[in-house]
Amino acid sequence: MRIIAIANQKGGCGKTTTSVNLAAALAFNGKKVLLIDLDPQAHATIGLAVDSDFNIYNVLSPITQKKAKLENIVKNVGKNFDVVPSGIVLSTLEQELSDEISRESRLADTLANFVNARYYDFVLIDCPPNLGLLTINAIRASSEIIIPVEASRFSIDGIGRLIEIVELIKDRLNHSVNYQVLVTMFDSRLKHSFTMLEKIKKNFGDKIMANIIHVNVKLKEAQNAATHILNYDKYSRGAKDYFSLARELITRFEASAAGENALDAALKESRIKKEIKELVRQEYARLNEIIFSISAPHAKNVYVVGDFNDWKQDDSSRMQRDNDAWTKKLALPSGKYRYRFVVDDNWVEDPNNLQKTANPFGGQDSLLEI
Ligand SMILES: Nc1ncnc2c1ncn2[C@@H]1O[C@H](COP(=O)(O)OP(=O)(O)O)[C@@H](O)[C@H]1O
Ligand SMILES: [Mg+2]
Repeated sequence: MRIIAIANQKGGCGKTTTSVNLAAALAFNGKKVLLIDLDPQAHATIGLAVDSDFNIYNVLSPITQKKAKLENIVKNVGKNFDVVPSGIVLSTLEQELSDEISRESRLADTLANFVNARYYDFVLIDCPPNLGLLTINAIRASSEIIIPVEASRFSIDGIGRLIEIVELIKDRLNHSVNYQVLVTMFDSRLKHSFTMLEKIKKNFGDKIMANIIHVNVKLKEAQNAATHILNYDKYSRGAKDYFSLARELITRFEASAAGENALDAALKESRIKKEIKELVRQEYARLNEIIFSISAPHAKNVYVVGDFNDWKQDDSSRMQRDNDAWTKKLALPSGKYRYRFVVDDNWVEDPNNLQKTANPFGGQDSLLEI
């Protein structure tokens, strides 16, 4: 039984999406998986339509009237795929445990005494978006941590704090865990994503999972439909990404179970590095460099916004002044796009492009086909 916490104190970086869909993909590959929802917001529980009178609180709480054992609250949600639900009541646990000894080890002790431990190949723990006692319990119970980082909003400071906690647990509780960074919500349409990926690589080197998760709206849709991606659309990019990630974990799991030696491990690491490099190269090769330009001699700020950047005005869409003109180079995959310029808050279409189409706001968008 390999226990993996999915943790990052930042909300919205893909913890729950990864927990649910990686668990589903491991199960799909024939592994027996238990997903423990350790977030009081219970997004994984809700996202898998689990309905239960009992949840992990009833197992961990020292004072609950409805005490339960882990094995009795497990819910089956598919072949090889079981879930331990959460609930809002879990938010009171931190307070309840404040005077308990070994309060950091409550989940670890529970799993050590879990009668079905031998049945499962993987236990995944979906953590809440903070570094409180629940996350510490998850780290303490795990041999590995997957830290999802959103490609476009990566911040090294946040992860630094999480790693400090891991080190602290190592020192104080004499428990060592490996961590791996998982790049999530990678948008290959945005050049910014590549810059971030380079930055993440520079900071974490071989501590990055070789597979990355791309932005894929189907993942969001699956969550809203209260199921996982392999049920919702197994041919989607999201399904493929989580399937590949599951294969990566299984390969590593089986290699270490077989007692792989240090040399093999080093070779594999260098292969993973190569794979990441190749991935970046392939993503770049799929892109076309497009130069947008507009004349606006008196403007103070000009942006190019379109469906390729979610119509957002930010650093990645800000144009550069070039005498009277403003220009912006973007790397875009082949496809059809709508776009407009924003010249000091005025939305205008591209005066040099005759291809236009009406938009829902009564104006016109310029059209681009690459
Ligand atoms: N790869 C992805 N592509 C598109 N949307 C995603 C992706 N990963 C997560 N999301 C969406 O982003 C939001 C936050 O993700 P979630 O997994 O709930 O984050 P966390 O658990 O870290 O708070 C959710 O609405 C989810 O559906
Ligand atoms: Mg979550």
